[in-house]
Amino acid sequence: MANGRVVQTADRTLGSRQLAALLPSEVLARPGYRSLADAVRTLILDGRIALRVRLPAERELAEALGASRATVTGAYDLLRESGYVRSRRGSGTWTELPEGHGAVGAHLLLGSGGYQADGDPGIDLAIAALGAPEDSLTEALAWAAPRLPGLARSPGYHPFGLPDLRSAVAERFTRRGLATRPEQILVTAGAQQAFSLVVSLLCGPGDRVVTENPTYANALDALRHARLRTGSIAVSDAGWDMEIAESTLRQTVPRLAYVVPDFHNPTGLLMPQELRLRLLAATRRTGTWLVVDETIADIALDVPAPAPLASLAPRGGAEHVVTIGSLSKTHWGGLRVGWVRATAKMITELAAVKVAADMTGSVLDQLVAQPLLEGLERTLPARLAQLRGQREALERALERHTPEWSWERGPGGLSLWVDLGEPVGSALAERAGACGVHVGRGARFGVDPGTFEHRLRIPYTLGPELLDEAVRRLAAAFHDGVPLAPAVERPHWVA
Ligand SMILES: Cc1ncc(COP(=O)(O)O)c(C=O)c1O
Repeated sequence: MANGRVVQTADRTLGSRQLAALLPSEVLARPGYRSLADAVRTLILDGRIALRVRLPAERELAEALGASRATVTGAYDLLRESGYVRSRRGSGTWTELPEGHGAVGAHLLLGSGGYQADGDPGIDLAIAALGAPEDSLTEALAWAAPRLPGLARSPGYHPFGLPDLRSAVAERFTRRGLATRPEQILVTAGAQQAFSLVVSLLCGPGDRVVTENPTYANALDALRHARLRTGSIAVSDAGWDMEIAESTLRQTVPRLAYVVPDFHNPTGLLMPQELRLRLLAATRRTGTWLVVDETIADIALDVPAPAPLASLAPRGGAEHVVTIGSLSKTHWGGLRVGWVRATAKMITELAAVKVAADMTGSVLDQLVAQPLLEGLERTLPARLAQLRGQREALERALERHTPEWSWERGPGGLSLWVDLGEPVGSALAERAGACGVHVGRGARFGVDPGTFEHRLRIPYTLGPELLDEAVRRLAAAFHDGVPLAPAVERPHWVA
């Protein structure tokens, strides 16, 4: 303990070549100790170097950078003084955040869920999901109504899910290129329950898991509640850093890896095929369960929807892959229908975990879900067109009201991962909340509290006028004469 705080040393190592590959070209061209320290600090705050990662020895890094040993020593000294690294004889130098630097503001990403004191319902950008498509929901209810009495004659407990819905989910996987039998499907109350069940079955307290960084915030919460130690795979605007992911997997041999390769939440990026193959191979080598979250896979705005990641594995090579999905993004989160696809044996084990959690899913929801799923290919194009239009409207609003912010447009998904240029995401989200705009601050999506303070996740799931008004209010909060308190004090060496 130091100052009442538990001191944790490194749990994995970053090689000098790997660190050099992450540094910006200006630093590589003329490595100075201040610019090197600043670049490493930025990589830590952006989640591209995780916390508790051992940095290369000074001599090795100096060699890799073609810099003097004094430059690296000076940079490490600055990082140590400002609390971004810690060193101990025998344990080397590892990354951390300054004391007192951490999450601020509302914890849960649950939207406004209510009204402000003046009765204004506010604008809810905290949830990246659409309302139900009205026509298909009405049709599905009409289809379900005459079928309900037949089902209602039985007690209504179907721990694996309604047989016809299991078949429909299995058939869709098969059509998408991953041969699947109904016995390989468990119907769940959404993808979130699917993930929680998988984590409860496969992991025990203290087990190590890895996720992308940033990643879907409620998945991180599920892992925290299960008391799991989380490592990370960095996802920057340029995509997945698979080399570091492979070395993290090799060094930490986690029990489970969780990824959202198809229009990753929050960035909207699509994992390229070559990286999918490397991830499949790396997790197979380390005996790590690979949980692929396909909840957003159908929100393919600029490219065709990808085939399931597990379909890329050689025959018999995907048994360690567990795929989860739901109707929440293609249809409606209020339906609470999702699924797990795994081996039939694992599905039986998961059904036992589900019975312990909630006995069974709602028969009515599942009955309504069946025609929705079967009609997906017919109804999806209109939803995607709506989202494309709203994405353009959001981009126009951002360009008009906050030209200093930037973002990389992913080929799908429901939100933009906006870079504010300053570490004020939490303070801005809090101030915007007071002006009636509820938005996900970047830090909610980081594996380590206090990272991604430069970011906001802004979904384009509202209509163009509301999006413009929301961004106008965000801009007013950002440009307000009273400066926003940065979550990270700019260290004295930064100009
Ligand atoms: C990547 C991802 N996984 C899971 C979920 C949760 O989905 P569901 O409402 O089906 O539980 C979401 C919802 O935002 C999501 O974005």
